[in-house]
Amino acid sequence: MNQENTVLERYSEGANERQDALCCPVDYQTDLLKILPDEVIEKDYGCGDPSRYVREDDVVLDLGSGSGKICYMAAQLVGEKGKVIGVDMNNDMLSLSRKYQEEMAEKLGNDRVQFLKGKIQDLALDVDAMETWLQSNPVTTVDDLSKLENWKLQQTGEAPLIADNSIDLVISNCVLNLVSDAEKQQLVNEIFRVVKPGGRIAISDIISDEFIPEHLKLDKDLWSGCISGAFQEQEMLEMFHDACFIAVSYDKWSDAPWQVVEGIEFRSATLTAIKREQTDCIDKGHAVIYRGPFSFVIDDEGHEFPRGERMAVCERTFNVLGNEPYKEDFIGVIPAQEKEPKVWCAPAGTKRPATETKGARHSINTENSSCC
Ligand SMILES: C[S@@+](CC[C@H](N)C(=O)[O-])C[C@H]1O[C@@H](n2cnc3c(N)ncnc32)[C@H](O)[C@@H]1O
Repeated sequence: MNQENTVLERYSEGANERQDALCCPVDYQTDLLKILPDEVIEKDYGCGDPSRYVREDDVVLDLGSGSGKICYMAAQLVGEKGKVIGVDMNNDMLSLSRKYQEEMAEKLGNDRVQFLKGKIQDLALDVDAMETWLQSNPVTTVDDLSKLENWKLQQTGEAPLIADNSIDLVISNCVLNLVSDAEKQQLVNEIFRVVKPGGRIAISDIISDEFIPEHLKLDKDLWSGCISGAFQEQEMLEMFHDACFIAVSYDKWSDAPWQVVEGIEFRSATLTAIKREQTDCIDKGHAVIYRGPFSFVIDDEGHEFPRGERMAVCERTFNVLGNEPYKEDFIGVIPAQEKEPKVWCAPAGTKRPATETKGARHSINTENSSCC
């Protein structure tokens, strides 16, 4: 049986009956649990709480939505104008989450949660639509197979399950580790594809402190139990950075390991990152000053910030550094009089001399006092 079938079988069991071995203790925001059905809470196989990152009006995508718990929590935070989409590949999990959709819509005031059948490493493929198509076009010959491939190309191109640049926040709770190693890069690229420019991700998952040997990856229980498919801790950051996310960081990190297998520590962590706005770099005279405490930092786009120096930045970078997760680390310098806008990316290390920033406003944590 391949890894995917093992995962399907294990989570079908988990949808039908609570599996204690799959449960990792998590501190959820308890006020969001009050209106959730008991069964949804009971069949929770998460390892973190990515619902903490949801904002009002967000369109949220939950990868591997399981019983629907995180989706129904997120739905309370997005408000009536927001929307939550859960994607899962397992029919039994989808039936469980959909069973409470009507009840939850009544409690929430509208039907803002939707559960779709799909594989998170191929978010364009509409698996329900493919199953419907296969009923009238069964595959019994090689020619049939190429017809199916053509159908898939057309469907994913013309009506992708999740469209490009359509999601404000992608979340996931203990699922990425279940995708085969061969498909993990494609999975991260798919996440990047669907997030809107300026959008965010918050991925809670199990990570390991060392690379995992092959014999543990071949162990079906360890794989389907969210252990041996885990990303190594640095590898996970690098994969998201290499896919062009910025501000890639571990926001949460559990102190005690959840499991230790052959000396390898497996713990829960939450990775957060942003998809950069696709706007041009326009210079209008902005600068930022890195506050410290390090003597020097470099961001994910290669800009260098020595502590205390007024560094030239384009307006887009200025806006990125003025928001989460950077805003506490930088003082923004807004020019008293904007320069004639020109397309210009400040080469790493370009300073903005004090003579050019006289009379500027300082956007971040401005001191009220004008004396010392
Ligand atoms: C460990 S459970 C977590 C469920 C849920 N996120 C939670 O917090 O309770 C993993 C879920 O991901 C789903 N899953 C695993 N691999 C998947 C894949 N490649 N595509 C879509 N869903 C997947 C499983 O069916 C299962 O519902």
